[in-house]
Amino acid sequence: MEKFSVLRLLLLILCLIARGFVSNGAAQSVKCLKSDQDALVNFKNGLEDPKNRLLSWQGSNCCQWSGISCENSTGAVVTVDLHNPHPSGSDSSGRYGFWNLSGEVRPSLVKLKSLRYLDLSFNTFNGIPIPIFFGSLENLQYLNLSNAGFSSKIPPNLGNLSSLEYLDVKISTLTVDNLEWMAGLVSLKHLMMNEVDLSMVGSDWVGTLNKLPALIELHLSSCRLSGYIPSLDFVNFTSLAVIDLSSNRLNSKIPDWLLNISSLAYVDMSNNKFYGRIPLGLGELPNLQTLNVAGNKNLTASCFQLFKGSWKKIEVLDLASNKLHGKLPTSFGNMTSLTYVDLFANNVQGGIPSSIGKLCNLKFFCLVGNNMTGSLPEYLEGIENCLSKSPLPSLQFLTLANNQLHGILPDWLGQLKNLVQLDLEYNSLQGPIPTSLGSLLHLTGLGLGGNQLNGTLPESLGQLSEFGQLPNPLNVALSADVDLSSNLFEGPISLPVVEIELLDLSNNRFSGPIPINMGASMHNLIFLSLSSNNITGNIPASLGDMNSIQVIDLSSNNLTGNITASIGNCSYLKVLDVSGNNLYGGIPNSLGSLQVLDMAENMLNGTIPVSFGDLKAMTRVQIKNQYLFYGKYMGLFYEENLVVCTKNQPQRFTKTLSLLTSMDLSGNNLHGDLPQELTKLEGLVVLNLSRNHISGQIPNSISNLRQLSSLDLSSNSLAGPIPPSMSLLSFLGVLNLSYNNFSGAIPYTSHMTTFEAPSFVGNPGLCGAPLVVKCPGEGIDEGELL
Ligand SMILES: *[C@@H]1O[C@H](CO)[C@@H](O)[C@H](O)[C@H]1NC(C)=O
Ligand SMILES: *[C@@H]1O[C@H](CO)[C@@H](O)[C@H](O)[C@H]1NC(C)=O
Ligand SMILES: *[C@@H]1O[C@H](CO)[C@@H](O)[C@H](O)[C@H]1NC(C)=O
Ligand SMILES: *[C@@H]1O[C@H](CO)[C@@H](O)[C@H](O)[C@H]1NC(C)=O
Ligand SMILES: *[C@@H]1O[C@H](CO)[C@@H](O)[C@H](O)[C@H]1NC(C)=O
Ligand SMILES: *[C@@H]1O[C@H](CO)[C@@H](O)[C@H](O)[C@H]1NC(C)=O
Ligand SMILES: *[C@@H]1O[C@H](CO)[C@@H](O)[C@H](O)[C@H]1NC(C)=O
Ligand SMILES: *[C@@H]1O[C@H](CO)[C@@H](O)[C@H](O)[C@H]1NC(C)=O
Ligand SMILES: *[C@@H]1O[C@H](CO)[C@@H](O)[C@H](O)[C@H]1NC(C)=O
Ligand SMILES: *[C@@H]1O[C@H](CO)[C@@H](O)[C@H](O)[C@H]1NC(C)=O
Ligand SMILES: *[C@@H]1O[C@H](CO)[C@@H](O)[C@H](O)[C@H]1NC(C)=O
Ligand SMILES: *[C@@H]1O[C@H](CO)[C@@H](O)[C@H](O)[C@H]1NC(C)=O
Repeated sequence: MEKFSVLRLLLLILCLIARGFVSNGAAQSVKCLKSDQDALVNFKNGLEDPKNRLLSWQGSNCCQWSGISCENSTGAVVTVDLHNPHPSGSDSSGRYGFWNLSGEVRPSLVKLKSLRYLDLSFNTFNGIPIPIFFGSLENLQYLNLSNAGFSSKIPPNLGNLSSLEYLDVKISTLTVDNLEWMAGLVSLKHLMMNEVDLSMVGSDWVGTLNKLPALIELHLSSCRLSGYIPSLDFVNFTSLAVIDLSSNRLNSKIPDWLLNISSLAYVDMSNNKFYGRIPLGLGELPNLQTLNVAGNKNLTASCFQLFKGSWKKIEVLDLASNKLHGKLPTSFGNMTSLTYVDLFANNVQGGIPSSIGKLCNLKFFCLVGNNMTGSLPEYLEGIENCLSKSPLPSLQFLTLANNQLHGILPDWLGQLKNLVQLDLEYNSLQGPIPTSLGSLLHLTGLGLGGNQLNGTLPESLGQLSEFGQLPNPLNVALSADVDLSSNLFEGPISLPVVEIELLDLSNNRFSGPIPINMGASMHNLIFLSLSSNNITGNIPASLGDMNSIQVIDLSSNNLTGNITASIGNCSYLKVLDVSGNNLYGGIPNSLGSLQVLDMAENMLNGTIPVSFGDLKAMTRVQIKNQYLFYGKYMGLFYEENLVVCTKNQPQRFTKTLSLLTSMDLSGNNLHGDLPQELTKLEGLVVLNLSRNHISGQIPNSISNLRQLSSLDLSSNSLAGPIPPSMSLLSFLGVLNLSYNNFSGAIPYTSHMTTFEAPSFVGNPGLCGAPLVVKCPGEGIDEGELL
């Protein structure tokens, strides 16, 4: 992935230069060479062209045909550019069609003696090999076969193309056994071989490439390269600016010869098995803008030493998932061009230096999963250096979760005008939430869970979206390959105002009530957790205004009063957890499309609403495992998880949460019958109604709940027989019917025989196996009856 624009610009300029010697075909008045025209006609006749892209290939002047240009003086064809303009299938107007050429690539092309530029990219030459005669196109300077559907071995005679400057053979179905032929490409500046299978070439590729002194860009990503990168006595490719070796299986130290190439601007060695120390010399490369060595697991460095280097032009530092240790030095703030810093999953220690205030261009700063024990700086140094004179004016992502940071949340957090995501979860931060956080207009995710924060929830949290009505523009920008680095401008960036989507304040020491208007303006909020605090008061009716909400977790607090019926207005709500509070009154009738309902351990009274039989999500078996809310930008570091009691043990559901449907009303004061309507919930996996005052009988239709894996009806006042149909519940792993008033014989057949006496004890009228109490008439030998 090319992460920054300067290089793209460079590439573009180079391409323009490369194309400069030819002119636009349409404008050309020169008359083309007859022999060249005949060759093109023959070439065209070999092609299949379902969209008639070559309709213009008729008439007497081939210099005016689309994709063709000629030399002004001679009329000789120099360019054949047939790249597929719509590789995704549809054109700009959205019309669908196949714009690819396919068929035969006829050797008549060889007759184009002056051909310098050949582009067949993104066509569909269904698995035919690259024609051997390409090696005879002796004046070729540009050859682009990217994704053109060729397969098998790249013909070694391409090495005859001694004028070739650009070679793009990015096709996953190509292989190379031996790279020696490439030594003949003495003019090569740009090599794109991503995805070509080079697993057979061993370590020779380094020596071969060292014979290419003009090389500027080298792309060998996902080529199945393995083994050690040998050292070089003499480095030939002294103009190299881009080296991409990412996603191979290289098992090597980072080669020292890289440090001799002062032109290097972009180094991507991520996702290999590089080990050993990251050479300090990388920091002295005067042109280096991107260093990506993420995902090697085993690279070491002392951050203190490494970041003391000059790093004169560094913009992107991605060192995630390695073994860096030590503190960030004060001089970290000297790398003033930085836009992107990712140190995820290392062992960085200490605190965050206040000098980061000098990083006016910083957009992405991630230290998730390290061993930081210091505090957030109380103030930021060098703010006056930024144009806007505000703290970290470009910062959009500040993610420091899973460390041991302590101290308070500094006020400057609330001044990060462009902040989109603030994730400080699972640290040891203390004190209150600064009111100023409520003024962050672009914040879409605020994760402060798992700290020791206290005080009341600021009213301003409800304003996090006060102005927002606009659609979220970041869904696109933040797909899997986050590219936030291509903007070299210092903020303020004009992001539209967006609304908060994720708010996690769980596992802290917050007290006082939920701000009464909290839900009133959070129209985009998808996830809300205030779980495991000491929050008191009622559940405000305004929560019912959150019309995008999918997860509400208010569990383990000290909430009182009724469960507001307005929650039924949240039509996308899938998870509602209010367990472990002091809620009382009745259960609201209408709770929409809930999939997980947990109201356990409260003081709720009244009956189980008959309408629960209509909880849509629970009436279906969940077969699609999809993340309930994430997979967007929080997806990088934030996993949805929820603890549900199944099988009598708390179980944490993360990635499979969407497969769970569960209803837990245990530990309340509910009375009345077990409504027959509940047995309509055919997708239900967990049902726990224990420790209430539920009476009546278990309906026969209980056997409809075929997915049920845990059923706990213990400690109620249920009576009558245990319906024999229960033995049809073949997934049932936990059954607890103890301490009720059931009577008669236990239907101890088929699956029921997997349960033992504790599932049935405390029912004085029950008899038969597995209880020791025999039923009347049982145990009398048949012989005695006779
Ligand atoms: C070729 O001729 C066209 C006009 O016919 C002109 O625009 C272009 O600059 C010329 N190219 C060269 C390299 O002279
Ligand atoms: C063009 O590409 C599409 C999609 O890759 C493919 O299905 C189709 O068969 C191709 N057309 C030809 C003529 O090869
Ligand atoms: C080859 O063509 C593809 C698409 O047409 C383009 O993205 C790529 O940059 C080209 N390669 C080179 C080296 O110009
Ligand atoms: C450097 O490149 C030149 C030209 O291709 C070649 O002759 C020479 O052998 C190369 N040097 C090394 C050490 O490979
Ligand atoms: C990490 O690299 C060291 C050498 O620096 C090596 O001894 C060790 O086996 C490697 N560990 C793993 C897990 O690859
Ligand atoms: C780098 O940072 C240190 C500490 O902040 C400072 O003393 C030094 O002058 C800076 N160096 C440069 C080259 O800016
Ligand atoms: C965190 O750092 C401390 C010393 O500061 C060290 O003892 C501990 O092992 C480190 N933890 C991890 C997980 O590396
Ligand atoms: C919050 O915690 C801090 C330190 O942990 C303590 O000094 C302060 O009194 C607490 N405030 C409240 C409102 O509990
Ligand atoms: C919760 O708050 C109440 C009232 O403010 C207080 O009495 C109680 O000690 C707090 N509990 C915890 C665990 O902080
Ligand atoms: C709940 O609040 C009451 C009164 O405000 C208090 O006595 C009790 O300790 C609190 N319970 C918890 C678990 O904090
Ligand atoms: C609680 O709900 C019950 C009905 O379930 C209602 O009668 C009562 O007025 C409500 N109480 C409050 C405080 O809202
Ligand atoms: C529920 O409990 C409240 C007080 O705790 C009481 O006023 C109300 O009558 C009860 N409702 C029912 C239906 O039992």
